[in-house]
Amino acid sequence: MNEYIKSTKNMSDNEIENSLRPIKLSEYIGQDKIKESLKIYIDASRKRGEALDHVLLYGPPGLGKTTLSHIIASELGVQLKVTSGPAIEHAADLASILTNLQKNDVLFIDEIHRLSRSVEEVLYPAMEDYALDFIVGKGPSARNMRLKLQPFTLVGATTKAGNIAGPLRDRFGIILRLELYEDGELASIVSRSSKILNINIENDAIMEIAKRSRGTPRIANRLLKRVRDYAEVKSESGVVTLALAKEALKLMDIDEKGLDYVDRKFLLTLIEKFHGGPVGVETIATSIGEEVATIEDVYEPYLIRLGFIARTPRGRVALDKAYEHLGLKSPNMLMQMKFDNIDEN
Ligand SMILES: Nc1ncnc2c1ncn2[C@@H]1O[C@H](COP(=O)(O)OP(=O)(O)OP(=O)(O)O)[C@@H](O)[C@H]1O
Ligand SMILES: [Mg+2]
Repeated sequence: MNEYIKSTKNMSDNEIENSLRPIKLSEYIGQDKIKESLKIYIDASRKRGEALDHVLLYGPPGLGKTTLSHIIASELGVQLKVTSGPAIEHAADLASILTNLQKNDVLFIDEIHRLSRSVEEVLYPAMEDYALDFIVGKGPSARNMRLKLQPFTLVGATTKAGNIAGPLRDRFGIILRLELYEDGELASIVSRSSKILNINIENDAIMEIAKRSRGTPRIANRLLKRVRDYAEVKSESGVVTLALAKEALKLMDIDEKGLDYVDRKFLLTLIEKFHGGPVGVETIATSIGEEVATIEDVYEPYLIRLGFIARTPRGRVALDKAYEHLGLKSPNMLMQMKFDNIDEN
């Protein structure tokens, strides 16, 4: 056992997650369109010696927004300051963060949709003119003052671009939407992580984990770690084979498509309780005891990508593929069977 694995042995999942973060843009797997445009903007701003335009990153959790913010700062060769919407309670907190930034630094605000109104208002002139506006004095003698800030880049991340106020959104020069990853890309991520964590894993086991990761790197890495645990306990050699990976995933109640207990409950409720829809997401949420936001941000994007459900103006509907996956007959198939029977008679 080498030094590295000894040191990762006692690490928490969080620490491991950090150790798996790619540092350079070239190590960041997938999201090719985003990488291509970011590379151009970063190169251009470096050449000019100016701050990069403000960047808004949005997309489902675990796709690499935080990772990308670190990469942007390191590729720019500047410092990164990290905070989040809920962490900035008062306008003065943000003012103090902003005045402490150095030239061309990156300020990363995670969950930027959760900034309060009063904090947002400090951000507008800061983003637009690199300035802080405030009022000095009271009553008739009160005066507007403007404090110049160092030029900086704001990188905002959110799982929901729709929840960001229009005026804030308009102040981002670069808006990037992260997409769910393809299986091949996830396999490259799992393979890279196995090397970093010193896990001996066969290629078909890597692919199996990739296929069941719901298009999400964080889930891919999480499954890899749990599969490793399983192999360490269950096999002499500790090598992760396809058979072992399958057993471990079964134990986690994750099916061939990567659906977990909640996904299946969502689909079954939609199909059995609401006859396949259309039904409002709030109604399903109440029925299965999950938050609407969780359903919309975490569960639905993958189910939509699989072609299992659709969002329609009248609510969610289950599609044929969902019935098939659950081993049920869809209304369309039943209808088809009826017609087939009529033909026969
Ligand atoms: N493109 C990628 N290549 C390799 N690894 C990646 C990539 N994207 C994400 N990861 C891995 O997935 C993990 C989760 O990524 P990250 O924390 O950046 O996601 P996030 O979009 O910020 O999630 P959240 O919305 O929950 O904050 C990271 O630890 C990183 O190792
Ligand atoms: Mg994040």
